[in-house]
Amino acid sequence: MAVEKVMVIGAGQMGAGIAQVFAQSGIHVKLNDLKEEALEKGLDGINKRLSRAVEKGKLTTDEQQQALSSLSGTTDLKDAADCDLIIEAVIENMDVKTKVFQALDEIAPSHAILASNTSSLPITEIAAVTKRPSQVIGMHFMNPVPVMKLVEIIRAIQTSDETYQVVEDTAKKLNKTPVEVNDFPGFVSNRILMPMINEAIYTVYEGVSSVEDIDTVMKLGMNHPMGPLTLADFIGLDTCLYIMEVLHDGFGDSKYRPCPLLRQYVKAGWLGKKSGRGFYTYE
Ligand code: CAA
Repeated sequence: MAVEKVMVIGAGQMGAGIAQVFAQSGIHVKLNDLKEEALEKGLDGINKRLSRAVEKGKLTTDEQQQALSSLSGTTDLKDAADCDLIIEAVIENMDVKTKVFQALDEIAPSHAILASNTSSLPITEIAAVTKRPSQVIGMHFMNPVPVMKLVEIIRAIQTSDETYQVVEDTAKKLNKTPVEVNDFPGFVSNRILMPMINEAIYTVYEGVSSVEDIDTVMKLGMNHPMGPLTLADFIGLDTCLYIMEVLHDGFGDSKYRPCPLLRQYVKAGWLGKKSGRGFYTYE
């Protein structure tokens, strides 16, 4: 099956980024959000990023126009009725996600693949609430989606080889590098990334070094583009805590216990860049 029409559910940072890469690859994509305001914000962000790319000489005006002509917005989930692939990028909450998948299962054509961009929730459990579990899969993009090359493709225990192949081929058409992963807590990306971030937070908590110096060690010593504490602020400390809880609960292993300082920051509402304060402060 060739994927020609796509819908992305959720017009937040991830959803809008995913819709942008499809549009730039010339694949028809509908960006969906429940709220008109959120949808407008998502579409506006895509417009601005494409215009900036034109200003920088990274995109021609023709390519910009082509991308925009492949993109549309909708607040009606029923518009998924003619799509081949639907990617959910809503809030990381199992109840919300299962409701979205159950609704999509009713609306989407029988051949359609339902994918989730979840960063840590079990795809197997999401697949089980649908009547097409073999056509459910994880498609985990990294933030910022237009920049990062990786797509982690997560196979639920029920996912068919055919579904996997279609999604892998689609990721390649987006000029991304797909990696095949089985459905275990945190997949590969967050199973490795989050304990590193959590450990960086422990080094602050235990007074081993300062926030800036810990980031410098990882940036200059390990060539990471961002230090782990800057990255934690960028991802959102609430999301980091949530993923650590998924690892801790999923494996039942104390090595994944979230740092008490991380919990305290989240309780204080210091969620990182989005709230103006995390390990750093933001204008
Ligand atoms: N959206 C779109 N494009 C963006 C962007 C954004 N939010 N932020 C930066 N960019 C683009 C810039 O426009 C620029 O593009 P051009 O080269 O085409 O001009 C390019 O990225 C580089 O940007 P800058 O020069 O401003 O800054 P930089 O060189 O410091 O790179 C960065 C910024 C790409 C974010 C880099 O710091 C980086 O790679 N950081 C690590 C990001 C990372 O680890 N992401 C994974 C997070 S974990 C996750 O997503 C999964 C999860 O489940 C939690």
